[in-house]
Amino acid sequence: MANTEYVKNGALRDDALKGRTIIITGGGTGLGKAMSTYFLQLGANVVITSRNFDVLKNTALELESLTGGSVLPLSCDVRNPEEIDEVLKQSIEHYGTIHGLVNNAAGNFISPTERLSPNAFSTIIDIVLKGTVNCTLALGKHWINEKQPGTVLNIITTYAYTGSAYVVPSACAKGGVLALTRSLAVEWGKYGIRTNAIAPGPFPTKGAWDRLLPGEMAEKFDFKNRVPLKRTGEHQELANLSAFLMSDFSGYINGEVITIDGGEWLQGAGQFNGLESITPHMWDNLEKLIRMKKGSE
Ligand code: HXC
Ligand code: NAP
Repeated sequence: MANTEYVKNGALRDDALKGRTIIITGGGTGLGKAMSTYFLQLGANVVITSRNFDVLKNTALELESLTGGSVLPLSCDVRNPEEIDEVLKQSIEHYGTIHGLVNNAAGNFISPTERLSPNAFSTIIDIVLKGTVNCTLALGKHWINEKQPGTVLNIITTYAYTGSAYVVPSACAKGGVLALTRSLAVEWGKYGIRTNAIAPGPFPTKGAWDRLLPGEMAEKFDFKNRVPLKRTGEHQELANLSAFLMSDFSGYINGEVITIDGGEWLQGAGQFNGLESITPHMWDNLEKLIRMKKGSE
């Protein structure tokens, strides 16, 4: 039976992020927008960035009217360190202190690796790995110079652990972000900077679905069937986890990666997980065969 009893509401108390200012890359769409919404509901100011200013501006207006909070939309390509410095400068001018960074911006598409040009490969590495490095470096240097604590949250994927065919640049880049997360958690812990990651399983968004499940792929490769809980993730479930990791309630969590995937990646990993398709009648026969072997060696 499918697990359909799931939370669609916020999990944290109302003031969990009160007075905080958090920069969220890719905050105008998809999961970035969901996290921004919940951070605002918990009392934070949010700075949302991406390349498309019109999208950011519309999201900012929508979220301010929905939550009553304050959103600063700033266009910025995470591949360009100068644009990130400008975001930092304007965010400080606007809000004074920056408390957190969510590295959520990403680029991805499915493709057999042998069809990729060097530029296609590096485009994904540049956005996902180097973009995350660029933002983290800018904020980290700022916090260290100002002797301020900070919190970094990196959005990775479960195939950062396993690798994955057909999204190889993304797998390489997200694997690098995982290494960055664990490395900086140790190196920057002494400055009061916590670094953690979330590895989401499938959470339907237009950005991901358009590039990973185009056309008939959405039906042929229905993610629900790959997940032991037989459903995809709710955006609020990811928002709840990210808010917890950005809040002081997770103050002793540093260098951790939390998987939120309904058990999907482990389903693919366990050697005998495929036995799901065996019927009770077949199990009766198998059990008999196994028991008959007792003492026959
Ligand atoms: C092969 C491709 C290609 C494709 C682009 N390229 N699409 N190669 N197959 N389908 C090649 C181009 O030909 C070019 O190489 C190079 O990649 C760069 O392409 P541009 O279009 O110039 O790049 P750019 O405008 O910077 O756009 C980046 C992008 C695009 C990644 C290609 O898709 C994008 O903007 N994505 C942002 C949002 C996104 O991807 N969201 C999904 C995240 S989902 P040449 O050699 O021709 O110059 C995710 C989670 C996964 O990460 C897990 C889900 C379960
Ligand atoms: P999405 O809506 O496409 O989000 C990606 C965001 O990144 C967009 O807002 C995009 O905006 C921004 N972006 C892309 N390239 C950028 C660049 N060079 N500079 C600045 N911003 C850039 O997809 P999503 O599903 O919400 O993905 C959000 C995060 O979750 C990603 O890190 C993704 O890898 C991760 N994730 C998602 C899933 C899922 O099932 N949805 C699963 C695992 C992990 P612009 O194009 O306007 O710049």
